[in-house]
Amino acid sequence: MKALIHENVPLAPLTTFRIGGRARYFIDVPTEETVHDAICFAKQKNLPSFVLGGGSNLLVADTGFSGVVIKVDIAGLEWESDRHTTIVRAGAGEEWDRLVALCVERDLAGIECLSGIPGSVGGTPVQNVGAYGQEVSDVLTNVRAYDRHTDSVVELSRDECRFTYRASLFNTTAKDRYIVLRVAYSLRNHGTPSIRYHDVQREFEDKSSTPTLAEVRAAVRRIRARKAMLLVEGDPDCRSAGSFFKNPIISEGEFANLQLRAGAGIPRYPAAPGKVKTAAAWLIEHAGFSKGYSLGPAGLSTKHTLALVNRGGADAEDILRLAREIRDRVYDRFGVKLIPEPVFLGFDSAVCSEFFML
Ligand code: EPU
Repeated sequence: MKALIHENVPLAPLTTFRIGGRARYFIDVPTEETVHDAICFAKQKNLPSFVLGGGSNLLVADTGFSGVVIKVDIAGLEWESDRHTTIVRAGAGEEWDRLVALCVERDLAGIECLSGIPGSVGGTPVQNVGAYGQEVSDVLTNVRAYDRHTDSVVELSRDECRFTYRASLFNTTAKDRYIVLRVAYSLRNHGTPSIRYHDVQREFEDKSSTPTLAEVRAAVRRIRARKAMLLVEGDPDCRSAGSFFKNPIISEGEFANLQLRAGAGIPRYPAAPGKVKTAAAWLIEHAGFSKGYSLGPAGLSTKHTLALVNRGGADAEDILRLAREIRDRVYDRFGVKLIPEPVFLGFDSAVCSEFFML
C-alpha cells in the first residue's frame, strides 16, 4: 500500500484547541510500511516531518506547518495473558480511552486512573501520560518505533524510554528521531484499582468495600468532567489542550523560598529525591487569575485555571498572549517560570525558546 499525500490540509479541526493553519503536506499512515513511505517523501523534499496523534496536546501556529504532517492511524489490539498478567499490544493510532475502557471491561488493572484522557496510544509514551497517581511508564513494557536515523523499526524497552514526569526520550534527548508504531502495556489480571489520590478517595468515602476497576474509571471520568479535563463534544470549556502548563518541579530549597512567598497552603507533591512538585493551577489562581478569566477570545476554563481555552475564534497568537500574561504574572509573584505542556508546532525558534527555556 502506498501512502496518499495531501496538500495544504487545515490542521485546526484535527486538534482539540481547534486552532492553527495548514500543513504543507499531510500523509495518513495506517501501516508500518506507509510510515516508511512518508518519511522517504519528507527526506526527498528535504522537509521536516511532524507526527500527529489525537491532536489533544498540541498548539499549531496560525501560519501552519511548512513540512510534512504524518498522521499515524495504525490500529490493532493484541492480547496475551498468563496467570497473573495480560500484555496488550496496541497500535499507535488506537484511541487511548477506548483501550482503557476495554482493559477495565476485561478486569485488567494498571491504567484505570488514566481514564478520560483524550488522544491516541502513540502519544502516551512520548509525554509519559499520567493522572491520579498512575503513569503510563508504570505499566509500559516496550515501544515499537520507526527510527528516522536508521530508517528501520526498533523495539525500545521501558528503561530505554527514560521516563520522567511528562517526559521521555521521545520528547527530550531523541526528539524527532522516533515515530511510535505500537505500545505494549502489562496489566494485572483481576488486580485491585489504584486509589492513591485524595480526589479519587473522596469519591468512595461512603463505600465500605473496595471499589471495582469500573467504579474507579467512572469516578475518574466524573472528576475530569468537573474540571473540564474530559472532552465533551460541544462544550466550549473543552476547546483546550488539557493542562497548558506543566506542574513545576523545583528543589527543596526553592520550595522553601516559594512557601515564604506563597504561604503554607501551596500544594506539594512527591518528586525525584531532593525535588518537590507543586501545582501550576494553584500558582495561577493565587497570582490573581480566576477560573473563567478572559483575554479577548482566549481564556481560562470556568472549571480549572490550568486549561487555556479557545472561547471561539481564538487564534494561536491569542493563546500565546494569554499564556505570556499568566507566565509573567506567576513569575513576578512567585519567582517560578511556568513551562507549557503541549507541543508547539510551526512556531519560530524565538517563540519556542521564549516559552520552553527555563
Ligand atoms: N487548583 C487551583 N485552581 C484550579 C484547579 C486546581 O488552585 O482551578 C489547585 C488545587 O490546589 C489543586 C491543585 O491545583 O489541589 C492541583 O489540581 P488538580 O488536582 O486538578 O491537578 P493538576 O496538577 O492541575 C495534574 C495533571 C493532569 C491530571 C491531574 C490529575 C499536569 C500538568 N497535569 O493536574 O493532567 O489529570 O493532575 O492527576 O501534570 C494533562 O497533563 O494535560 C492533564 C490534564
